[in-house]
Amino acid sequence: MEKKTKIITIDRDLLANGEEGAIHALKQAAHLIREGELVAFPTETVYGLGANGLDADASKKIYAAKERPSDNPLILHIVNIEDLYPLVKEVPKEAMDLAKRFWPGPLTMILEKSERVPLSTTGGLSTVAIRMPDDLIAQVLIRESQTAIAAPSANRSGRPSPTKAKYVYEDMQGKIPLILDGGAVGIGLESTIIDLTVKPARVLRPGAITATMLSEVLGEVVSSEQSHISESEAPKAPGMKYRHYAPKASLFVVETEDVVKRIVELVKEQADARVRVGVIATAEHEEVYRKAFQEKVLVKVIGERKDERSIAKNLFAILREFDGSDVGIIYSESFKGDGMRTAIMNRLLKAAGHQVIR
Ligand code: TXA
Ligand code: MG
Repeated sequence: MEKKTKIITIDRDLLANGEEGAIHALKQAAHLIREGELVAFPTETVYGLGANGLDADASKKIYAAKERPSDNPLILHIVNIEDLYPLVKEVPKEAMDLAKRFWPGPLTMILEKSERVPLSTTGGLSTVAIRMPDDLIAQVLIRESQTAIAAPSANRSGRPSPTKAKYVYEDMQGKIPLILDGGAVGIGLESTIIDLTVKPARVLRPGAITATMLSEVLGEVVSSEQSHISESEAPKAPGMKYRHYAPKASLFVVETEDVVKRIVELVKEQADARVRVGVIATAEHEEVYRKAFQEKVLVKVIGERKDERSIAKNLFAILREFDGSDVGIIYSESFKGDGMRTAIMNRLLKAAGHQVIR
């Protein structure tokens, strides 16, 4: 059923100061959540598509709006550490230690779920994913809704996660009643997911909270790349089973030694091809490409190589921008490395369907 999608801009400073208009908008949004409706809202990672996570019918609406397979579980968002207890069977010490250190923040923990959490929220799993976002708009929305808000990224299934409200609108227009616009998100990649139901704890999705940061609290931590997950298992690690972020164009990550030189060669090899070529470049190398190519080649700057956070923040937006162009092949520089780069490469390689030029 087509709905009119309203976008309300929220100023965090006004909200923090209790300005009436901002509070009113959040109350209105919370009212929709309590009525079982969907509301998109900003978090520090990406925009989320929220529903009452304790209402089975409300979470089902998320799957419909996203066109997401119903066995792909959702993340529950809470606002106080105490809110964790009713949602899980038990809170292990590791969970408390991680919560104290990293919440609110971009860390999602997988724990054994309680009876309160419907299976439609967890995709039929007996475990549940929970996080406490570090964003005032998200926090006020959850508090006012007086429930745990189930929220996947607010994109249509398979598309890049939205980092701005306009991208949510692109995907969700006519499908949800309300988008809260809090401007561009700070991080730009989804939260780190850690599974605490196995020993040692396992990182299912890398993010801004790195494996090193986690092991400072937990000791040993394994990442999903290191562990063996059978194909028949339910999708524990996002993207293992489902196609993610794939742009319309064919994307290649170039990992050779002299990356810039190799990309210039690759683009020139396509000179006679019918398709337009695009390049994902770092600011440091932009000039070299611009000098080497004619305007026909679409060069987009993702951020500064020396500032990995700028790259994380722009990755999904760049993929969406290319989708809006007529480019048929994209070559991207590689950002291999540790820390946040692990998360950047995880998303970039998924978007590329693991097409790497070595
Ligand atoms: O940063 C984020 O985490 C964003 C914002 C909105 O909070 N949310 C997000 O949700 O990225 P989503 O649905 O796009 O990704 C959640 C992933 C799922 O793909 C799923 O594989 C994993 O979390 N997940 C959820 N519950 C799980 C569970 N019980 N066991 C294993 N993995 C789970
Ligand atoms: Mg997602």
